Amino acid sequence: MDVIQHILEIRNKISDLKAKNFRIGFVPTMGALHEGHLSLVRKAKEECNIVVVSIFVNPIQFNKPEDLKNYPRTIDNDLLMLEKENCDLVFTPSEAEMYPKTETLSFDFGALDKVMEGAFRPGHFIGVAIVVKKLFEIIQQDKAYFGEKDFQQLQIIKELVRQLNIPVEIIGCPIIREKDGLAMSSRNALLDPKMRILAPEIYKSLQNAALMERSCTPQILKEIVINEINATGLRVEYFEISNPQTLLPISDWKAITDAIGCIAVQAGKVRLIDNIKL
Ligand code: PAF
Repeated sequence: MDVIQHILEIRNKISDLKAKNFRIGFVPTMGALHEGHLSLVRKAKEECNIVVVSIFVNPIQFNKPEDLKNYPRTIDNDLLMLEKENCDLVFTPSEAEMYPKTETLSFDFGALDKVMEGAFRPGHFIGVAIVVKKLFEIIQQDKAYFGEKDFQQLQIIKELVRQLNIPVEIIGCPIIREKDGLAMSSRNALLDPKMRILAPEIYKSLQNAALMERSCTPQILKEIVINEINATGLRVEYFEISNPQTLLPISDWKAITDAIGCIAVQAGKVRLIDNIKL
């Protein structure tokens, strides 16, 4: 497994591989890898000849400086995990190389980046879109793999690719969960023991919502989930039942066959997100 820091070096490496007609699968990450990331690497391995993983904690997608400062960084362990998965290339660029000057690029994603995470983390998705565009231009992948835990991010990346005609196939992969149901996330490592015990209540409540099979209005279902989770000592920031394409909230089940319930919860100092098909 080659670990490459510099853009020029990885570009050269990729163009050699492309000259040999290798299909490149790309998994962009911010490190602190867990089974969720590894499931993306495994899927990429199945579908492509060469798998590239990037590890870059992207400063411009953090809207709170303390969140950036506290983001877990576990590069040595990440590299060991990737080596075990037979990953081919790891790209670990520096901030100076990714952002030689202040970014001015912007995008218009309509409502997609205004609701849910977009409303609570202003600027977050523009920061994600900028780094993903840059990484896609560097890696020149055939396919790129993203987890469905970040459902809104996945829709925005698909829209980015559509708007800019980037030649890449975006593959969404299912959420990987701990045994107790908690969606795997790099942030789980930051949970204090009490919050770690409470955190599985998020998925329990989402599953209860799915079991109710549209027996009440989306509005009432929202209230049930929010009250259930808040009663545990966790604090729901939002729970929206939305159209999975537009991400706009729905008020009536009849309008739609598939809906997505997306939630953000504050578990002590740590913010967790999850979602379920409804
Ligand atoms: O999902 C993530 O880890 C990040 O948002 C991404 C896509 C790697 C961009 O920094």
